[in-house]
Amino acid sequence: SSGAHVAALVIGTGYGGSVAALRLAEAGVNVHLIEMGQAWDTPGSDGRIFCNTREPDYRSYWLRTRTKAPLNYFLGFPIDRDIPRHTGVLDAEEFGGITVYQGRGVGGGSLVNGGMAVTPKRENFAAVLPSVDPGEMYGTYYPRANAALGVGTIDPAWFDTTACYQYARVGRKHAQRSGFPFVFVPDVYDWDYMKQEAAGTVPQSALAGEILYGNNHGKKSLQKTYLARAAATGRVTVSPLHRVTSVTPAAGGAYTVVIEQINTTGDTVATKTVTADRVFFAAGSVGTSKLLVKLKATGALPALNGEIGKGWGDNGNVMCGRANHLWDPTGKLQSSIPCCGIDNWAAGGAFAEVAPLPTGIETFASFYLSITNNPHRAQFSWNAAAGRVELNWQTAWKQPSIDMARTIFDKINSKEGTIYRTDLFGVYKIWGDHLTYHPLGGAVLNKATDNYGRLTAYPGLYVIDGALIPGNTTVNPFVTITALAERNIERIIAADL
Ligand code: FDA
Repeated sequence: SSGAHVAALVIGTGYGGSVAALRLAEAGVNVHLIEMGQAWDTPGSDGRIFCNTREPDYRSYWLRTRTKAPLNYFLGFPIDRDIPRHTGVLDAEEFGGITVYQGRGVGGGSLVNGGMAVTPKRENFAAVLPSVDPGEMYGTYYPRANAALGVGTIDPAWFDTTACYQYARVGRKHAQRSGFPFVFVPDVYDWDYMKQEAAGTVPQSALAGEILYGNNHGKKSLQKTYLARAAATGRVTVSPLHRVTSVTPAAGGAYTVVIEQINTTGDTVATKTVTADRVFFAAGSVGTSKLLVKLKATGALPALNGEIGKGWGDNGNVMCGRANHLWDPTGKLQSSIPCCGIDNWAAGGAFAEVAPLPTGIETFASFYLSITNNPHRAQFSWNAAAGRVELNWQTAWKQPSIDMARTIFDKINSKEGTIYRTDLFGVYKIWGDHLTYHPLGGAVLNKATDNYGRLTAYPGLYVIDGALIPGNTTVNPFVTITALAERNIERIIAADL
């Protein structure tokens, strides 16, 4: 409530915020988590908390009146539809040159993501976080993060036989025939639960097209892992539908935090002011960057350094589909949880996940999300006239990503005698190059902060999320975000509290 004083206030409940909350609470600190999205703990009138990708409803998108599906065309026809404006779970946030998809709610991106939980190869780590000792990450913090997140890998024997991964087996066959290394990708989905879905003994989630707008069963989101453990300490309070708008120094070394309470159509219903001894920015790469850039430019935190807002990247995300021959069907039942990829990072700068197209019909398409070594980095800046933070990413900056993805798919197409699909992202458009699922950077470790995420001009302010990572993790990012948060909070608790 307004006027309250809290020891530690955490802005956002994704990976960084959840790690901070658990470890601070275990150290005896009372923690208040502020989350602008919903709690996602109450079923709708259909008995489900989340909707699926085939029937997006009011629960799907964050304050939009029309869906904005990442794959927005099928057979050349647009598939987006009108929906009621609501604080739904997936935000398609539009900047000038790119749409950035993010999760909204208690659990952040863990509510909407594919759960692919990948630790970068050690030889690539120096490029991911140049100022961090790989020995401590691979010896301590990656194992700690993987264990706490509940990461596991598909049973290879089941993979070889189940109908729901026929699409992935086609992907493997094509990759191997072209000589590319094929790898299983670990995930936080409960693989035993998925086997029971396939056997028809439990309610379906991965096998019912649930992913982008949330999973009702099977996926170990942060609500089931870090946040459940944090709640069990009895020291953690969560305020959903509350949005932090300002943080400024207060008397005695504390901070004044302004918070707007919103309703489910996005209107502000109350404004609250609290003080906090410590504030952790865990609003995600975009959320944390937007807050810090605005607070620096508007004079709330003027001493933040000149690196704030810089070093933002898209993890090189680019999507494409290939048209298979009629004798190579990918199956009408497709698990929405990807489980494998094609690793051409060393030779071509691309790691491509074999992704599902869970439409419920045979598409004869192979679909891929590639993570590439795109060199471009963008910057957030404050537009005073418009009163908003902007990002200077250019759509044309995706070209290196397309070129890197082509090192895989041009070769496969040539070997298989196949072509790219041109009907998935528009009319005659091959590349899904307008988006990212993996925003990273904007408050880069050891640049905008010290080497542990401290905003050193303001003792007691910290960044602890994907904003710390300078734009690329070579694989899917959340295991690295979690492991880095584990490393940093351990040091902060030992040295600052
Ligand atoms: P994260 O974005 O998780 O959390 C930030 C939270 O802060 C959000 O809940 C937000 O609502 C809240 N917030 C923002 N501003 C606020 C404010 N002012 N006040 C209060 N709250 C505020 N990664 C991966 O490794 N494997 C995968 O399979 C996938 N797949 C995937 C699919 C899709 C569709 C998406 C959108 C993303 C992925 N990702 C992924 C990416 C992954 O989910 C992402 O990298 C992490 O969630 C980022 O974690 P953070 O802790 O940085 O922020």
